[in-house]
Amino acid sequence: MKVTVFGIGYVGLVQAAVLAEVGHQVMCVDVDQKKVDNLKKGIIPIYEPGLTPLVEQHYANGNLQFTTDAQDAVAHGEVQFIAVGTPPDEDGSADLKYVLAVAETIARFMSEPKVIITKSTVPVGTADKVTAKVQQTQASLNKTVEFDVVSNPEFLKEGAAVNDCMRPDRIIVGTYNNNPIDLMRELYEPFNRNHDKMVFMDVRSAELTKYAANCMLATKISFMNEMANLAEILGADIENVRKGIGSDPRIGYHFIYPGCGYGGSCFPKDVQALIRTAEGEHYQPKILQAVEEVNNRQKFKLPGLVKQHFGAELAGKTFALWGLSFKPNTDDMREASSRTLITELIAAGATVKAYDPEAMEETQRIFGVSDELVLVGTKEAALKNADALIICTEWQQFRAPDFDLIKQQLKNAVIFDGRNMFDPARLSKKGFVYYAIGRGE
Ligand code: UGA
Repeated sequence: MKVTVFGIGYVGLVQAAVLAEVGHQVMCVDVDQKKVDNLKKGIIPIYEPGLTPLVEQHYANGNLQFTTDAQDAVAHGEVQFIAVGTPPDEDGSADLKYVLAVAETIARFMSEPKVIITKSTVPVGTADKVTAKVQQTQASLNKTVEFDVVSNPEFLKEGAAVNDCMRPDRIIVGTYNNNPIDLMRELYEPFNRNHDKMVFMDVRSAELTKYAANCMLATKISFMNEMANLAEILGADIENVRKGIGSDPRIGYHFIYPGCGYGGSCFPKDVQALIRTAEGEHYQPKILQAVEEVNNRQKFKLPGLVKQHFGAELAGKTFALWGLSFKPNTDDMREASSRTLITELIAAGATVKAYDPEAMEETQRIFGVSDELVLVGTKEAALKNADALIICTEWQQFRAPDFDLIKQQLKNAVIFDGRNMFDPARLSKKGFVYYAIGRGE
C-alpha cells in the first residue's frame, strides 16, 4: 500500500520505517530540509535502538522515501498520516497549528480520495477540526474530493519504539463510519496476524483512549511516589511494599517503580493537556491535578536529599551525576528529572560532573558549556574527587558498578539513588551512606 507520513519526528519516523519493513511504500514528508537531507545520508535525528538499520535498508530499497515536497507526498499515499508535533501551548493545552496546517496541505493538493489518519496525540475533538479544515480548504478551492478522517493513536515507548511498533498490544482505530475500515485492516494486516489487535470505535473515544492510557500510567507512578514518601516517613521500605502489592494481578508489577519523577515528551504534556481539556469543559480533574503536583514535587526529591545531607549551601561541593536522559535507552532530556537536579545543585553553589551513555550532546545543547556543569566521557571519570554520587537514570551499565572504585574515588562514600537500583543492606555493609526513594537512609 502507498502511505504518506507527515512529520519525521519520533512517531512519524518509527511508524514509517516499520510500515516500510512490512512492505508498504512509504513517503515521509517534513518541512525541515536539513532533516530530510540527513535522512537520505543515513543520519537519523534521534537515538532509537534498531531504527538506523531499518531506515538505511528501506531507503536503499526504495520502500522509504524522504521529501519536503508536500504536493508529491499528498499525491503518493492512499493513506496520509499526520504525525507532526503538538507542543504544549502557554497554558499547557496541545497546540494544533501544525496538525491543522497539514490537514490544509492535504486538502489543497488532493485530487483523489484519501484516508487522513491522526497519529499524533491530539485532544478529543481534533478529528472534527481536521475534518472541518479539509472541508473549508476544499470549499475555498471549489473542489469536492472524498476523504475520511481516522484517529489512530500511537502507543510506542521511546527506547523500545521499533519493537512496540512492530508488535503493538492493540491498534486503536476511531472512525466516523465504516468506509475506511477495510483500508485500515489492510494497512495493519501484517501486524495483526496471530490474534485480532484492532479495536474499532468512534473518533472521540479513540482520541480519549490515548490520553486515558498515558494518564493512567502517570497516575500509577505518582501514586507510588506518594507511597514511597509515606514509607520513608513511616519507617517502611517501598521496595517491599511494591513487591507486596504487585503480586495482586489487579494491580500488577508494571509501572509501579517509585523514582525521582516521570519525564519525557509524553506523560507531563499529556497529563497537562487533559487537565486543560477538562477545565475547558468546567470540570475539575482532581486526580490528574494531583498526579501532576506529586510529580513536580518528586523532581525535587534528590536535590532535597542532597541538601538534607550536606546542608542547603553547596558552594565548593562537587557531585558526580550518572544518568541524564529521562529514562534509559534514549538521548531524550525532555522534562528529565536530571534537569531539575542540575539546576537546583548549581543554584546552591555546587559543581556537577555528569555522564550519560547517550544524552551528553543533548545536555550540552540545553545547558551549554560552563564551569558548574562538566560533562565527562565515562561514568568513572565523573567520580574523581566528587563529594557524592547521584544517580538519575537506571541505565544497564550502572547496575553493577565497582563499589570499591566508587568509594576510593569519592571524597565521601555517599550515594543518592533516584531509581532504587541497589540493596541498601549491601551498600551499608560496604560502608556507604545510601539514600534511595522510599527506603529510609
Ligand atoms: C509513554 C508511554 O509509556 C507510551 O505507551 C506512550 O505511547 C508514549 O508515552 C507516548 O505517548 O508517546 P515514554 O514517554 O517513551 O512512553 O516513556 P515511559 O517508558 O512510559 O516512561 C515515562 C517516565 O516514567 C520515565 O521518566 C520513567 O522513568 C518513568 N517511570 C516509568 C517511573 O518513574 N516508574 C515506572 O514504574 C515507570
